[in-house]
Amino acid sequence: MKNLLITGGAGFIGSNFVRYILNKYPDYHTIVFDKLTYAGNLDNLRDVANDPRYAFIRADICDADAVERAIREHRIDTIVNFAAETHVDRSIMDADAFIKTDVYGTYVLLEAAKKFGLRYHQVGTDEVYGWVVEGRSREDDRLLPRSPYAASKAGADLLIHAYVVTHKVGATITRGSNNIGPYQYPEKVVPLFVTNAIDNLPLPLYGDGKQMRDYQYVLDHCEAIDIVLHHGKIGEVYNVGTGEETENIVMARMILKLLGKPESLIQHVPDRPGHDRRYALDISKLCALGWKSTHTFEEALRKTVRWYVENEWWWRKLKSGEYLEYYRKQYLERR
Ligand code: NAD
Ligand code: DAU
Repeated sequence: MKNLLITGGAGFIGSNFVRYILNKYPDYHTIVFDKLTYAGNLDNLRDVANDPRYAFIRADICDADAVERAIREHRIDTIVNFAAETHVDRSIMDADAFIKTDVYGTYVLLEAAKKFGLRYHQVGTDEVYGWVVEGRSREDDRLLPRSPYAASKAGADLLIHAYVVTHKVGATITRGSNNIGPYQYPEKVVPLFVTNAIDNLPLPLYGDGKQMRDYQYVLDHCEAIDIVLHHGKIGEVYNVGTGEETENIVMARMILKLLGKPESLIQHVPDRPGHDRRYALDISKLCALGWKSTHTFEEALRKTVRWYVENEWWWRKLKSGEYLEYYRKQYLERR
């Protein structure tokens, strides 16, 4: 396995994964295939841009010809698919791009994997299980997505299962919990709260703020994908998380404390429609492959906050144009 097509590699987790692979495997090539939507950003890959083992193609995973061309030109043997529309609130406003990219785009990649006999890995999400009222989700639990985003990702997972069974495509899926760390677009809650707090702006907390999430450090997630890619069993799904749950209000207070800002910046705003109050994963199947999370939530958050404090060059310019338009619609117009 040497030539990886990393779709969505200019986004948050994908770009961290590219860096992780180049550092760990000196003989691997990473070909980033990315449409560069609002969430894609070549600044995320600036430090690897001159690495001879890295190449970038700007294209859409829904474009079968472009996918096939990239596979032929770069002798791809493996696809790792990060490409997706990823923000739940945007999927509530308009789900169109979610269905196109997350479902149809996955279908296009699976067809290519079938045609060229490629190994395929899908970066999936714990949101496909829906609100976990009690206990923890296991990989064979039923899928009960409750947002258009989660439903589009569940559709992709089901297609993958069908291609493994019917067409013998060599695919695996990881279902990750919330990632935090460098290069996360500031619409997601942690970078949004950190960058707002730095500027003394309100932190818009949905509803009572008692929803629970398992926030994991992005490089722990990258390592899990690496392990599943190399040691996972074809056709299997693996949950990826820390097992540690944190209420959003606790996370918000911790951010403010790390930045030395007052709790009065927390502003309760109307809740997200259909908001899943809790996700919780059983991660024993992945741990049996030898994976272990190396960051507690506190360590992950501390590192993340420090990165945003030290890298204003990266996020400040993102908080303009399209972002401000989205921010106004999401937080000001919906009251
Ligand atoms: P992101 O939004 O930061 O990046 C998505 C990337 O995909 C961007 O670079 C974008 O340009 C690209 N893209 C979008 N549509 C495309 C298309 N049609 N063709 C080619 N490229 C396209 O996302 P992320 O947070 O890095 O998430 C990556 C993957 O991990 C997604 O599949 C997501 O569902 C999954 N995931 C994310 C999290 C999380 O907490 N962020 C947790 C679990 C799983
Ligand atoms: O669980 C994995 C998923 O995590 C990924 O599949 C998604 O791509 C990723 O976006 C993330 O989804 P969430 O909806 O959990 O993430 P988000 O950062 O949008 O919200 C995290 C929690 O914070 C959630 O309970 C909603 C809350 N929140 C979010 C925003 C943006 C707020 O209270 N205020 C906000 O402004």
